[in-house]
Amino acid sequence: MTAAEPCADAVQEFAPAKINLTLHVTGQRPDGYHLLDSLVVFADVGDRIAVRRADRMRFKVTGPMAAGVPVDDSNLVLRAAHAAGVTRAEITLDKHLPAASGIGGGSSDAAAVLRALTRSHKVRPLSGGRLLRLGADVPVCLAATTARMSGIGERLAPVAGFPSLAAVLINPGVQVHTPDAFRALMIKNGAAMPSIPDFADTAACCDWLAAQRNDLQAPVVNMVPVVGVVLDALENQGAVLARMSGSGATCFGLFDSLATATAAARALTEARLGWWIRATTLAPRLSRPA
Ligand code: C5P
Repeated sequence: MTAAEPCADAVQEFAPAKINLTLHVTGQRPDGYHLLDSLVVFADVGDRIAVRRADRMRFKVTGPMAAGVPVDDSNLVLRAAHAAGVTRAEITLDKHLPAASGIGGGSSDAAAVLRALTRSHKVRPLSGGRLLRLGADVPVCLAATTARMSGIGERLAPVAGFPSLAAVLINPGVQVHTPDAFRALMIKNGAAMPSIPDFADTAACCDWLAAQRNDLQAPVVNMVPVVGVVLDALENQGAVLARMSGSGATCFGLFDSLATATAAARALTEARLGWWIRATTLAPRLSRPA
């Protein structure tokens, strides 16, 4: 058995990358949190969580992106387990997503450990308020399905019939501190998204998405210019649409097929050593079996 292959009796959950196809900032609450209107989808790349019953709490992080990931109580995985009242468990986080990168790694890990603990430890679901206190993206990551997210992340409306999209995800190896991205926003009360239509095909979907926004993108490109380089690189490789996810620095490019996305990812990987680059399908389903 390797470190990435937990014991057969472990409960395993996939923690998919969360992608904000759109992110409209529509206002700000008195406590400083921003009101959002965001179309969220999930990728088939992600982290993996394994949980076993144990006589005390043990937590380890393995995998290609484990370096620098905290193993103390500052990790959302442990905070989620404690919030669920669990003090005895062996939890392994197999880390494949870059940290602090706008694709919900930490939130998706927290959601996955909660899903696992309901199976391994029979914990009851946390209230919406407690989920939100773990992180504004935790509720949508727990749903792990295509959704329109509003409020600060607590209001979720499932989006039925949304097409699967072929995409390339790129993180240039820089971390963006989410509060800095929100602080740099010039306009904090942009228009909400229009209602999401039924799309005849993926081309119509991409056209509609192109007319929407990520309001954090311009301020983050200003602060972290390599994000603009990533967006240009995706467009130069033929992306139908290139945009930043969340507060960055990860960007996605949408392609007309998984074959073109895979070819673009291969070309970019050869040209850009040190960038994290993945071809993926953004698909409307719950979570992939680990
Ligand atoms: O909830 P989470 O830990 O993901 O948020 C990190 C920070 O991002 C918050 O402390 C806040 O500064 C900012 N934020 C915000 N509005 C949101 C979500 C996050 O201002 N809807």
